[in-house]
Amino acid sequence: MELLKVQQIEKYYGNKSSLTKAIDDISFSVDEGEFVAIMGASGSGKTTLLNCISTIDRVTAGHIYLEGQDVTALKGKALNRFRREKLGFIFQDFNLLDTLTGYENISLALSIQKRSVSAMDERIKEVAGQLGITDVLAKYPYQMSGGEKQRVASARAIITDPKLVLADEPTGALDSKSSKMLLERFNYLNREFGATIMMVTHDSFSASYARRVIFLKDGKIFDEINRGNDTRKQFFDKIIDVVTLLGADISSVVLGEETHPSQGRMQRGADISSVVLGEETHPSQGRMQRGADISGVVLGEETHPSQGRMQRGGDVSDAL
Ligand SMILES: Nc1ncnc2c1ncn2[C@@H]1O[C@H](COP(=O)(O)OP(=O)(O)OP(=O)(O)O)[C@@H](O)[C@H]1O
Ligand SMILES: [Mg+2]
Repeated sequence: MELLKVQQIEKYYGNKSSLTKAIDDISFSVDEGEFVAIMGASGSGKTTLLNCISTIDRVTAGHIYLEGQDVTALKGKALNRFRREKLGFIFQDFNLLDTLTGYENISLALSIQKRSVSAMDERIKEVAGQLGITDVLAKYPYQMSGGEKQRVASARAIITDPKLVLADEPTGALDSKSSKMLLERFNYLNREFGATIMMVTHDSFSASYARRVIFLKDGKIFDEINRGNDTRKQFFDKIIDVVTLLGADISSVVLGEETHPSQGRMQRGADISSVVLGEETHPSQGRMQRGADISGVVLGEETHPSQGRMQRGGDVSDAL
C-alpha cells in the first residue's frame, strides 16, 4: 500500500537575483513498510527533501501525500497532529534540548503522547539498551559525545513507533558498531512494526541496509536502485557503483558538511523543535512551562559544530 507520494515537488530558496533550486521536480512513491535510503553529494537537496516531507519546510510547487492526505496543505491543529502522531524525525544536527538529560529528551516524545510514567520508563530503557546509550541517559547533551547525542536523538524519534521515520544522516557521527546497532534497530522497527523509513546518508554501508536507494543530483533524481534478492554485500557493491558514477566522493560530502555551516538552518529553527515536539510552530507557551529553552536548542546545536562528524566515514567499510 502506498504510504507516501511525492508529486512534482520543487523548492526554491532566495529571490530572482539569487535563486537556488534545491529541489527541481522530484516525484516518487514509497509503500508502507519500505526502507528507503537517499544519497547524493552535499547540496544535492537531501535535507530539503526530508524537510518538505516532514513539513518543516514548505514546497514551492507540487504536492506530498501521506496516506492520501496532502501534507503541504496542513495547518494548525491538523499539522500538529500529523507531526506528533505520524512522524519520527532524526535531524542532521541532532537538536537535543540542552537543558534536559538524555532520558528527559527521550521521554518528551512519549509524554506528548500522554503515556503512563511506568510504561514510558520501560520503553525508554528498552530502546536505550538496544542503542547502547543506557549509561548516557542521566547526562546532559553537553556531556555527551557526538555519537551519543545522535543515538539519543534517534531514540527520541523512534520511541513513539511512528509510521514514518525520517532520518537525516542518522549514522553520520557514529562508529561502525554504533551504526550497526542503529541500523539493526531500524530494521527491527521496519520488520516488526511495519514502520516506513527514509534515511538520508552519504555512507554506502548504511545505505546497504535499505531495500531501495534513491540518488539525488542537483535537486533531481539521478538514479534509483532496488535491493531485490541481493545480499547486503551485493547491494553495497551496486551502491558504490552508482556513487562512483554520481561523482559524489564520500570525503567531499563529509567536508561539505564541515565547511558550509548550514546557512539555512537558523531560519528553520523555530519549526524544527515543533516537529520534534509535534507542536504548533509559533506560540511556544507549552514549551516554556516545561523549562525547555527552545532557542537554546537551535543555537546550542549551531554553536557546537558537531564534534562527532570528523570521525565518520573512514571506518564503515571495515564493518562489512
Ligand atoms: N534556507 C536556505 N536558504 C537558501 N539556500 C538553501 C537553504 N537551505 C538549503 N539551501 C540550498 O539548497 C541546496 C540543497 O541543500 P540541502 O541542505 O538540501 O543539501 P543536502 O543534500 O542535504 O547537503 P548535505 O549533504 O551537505 O547535508 C544547497 O545548495 C543549499 O545551499
Ligand atoms: Mg543535509
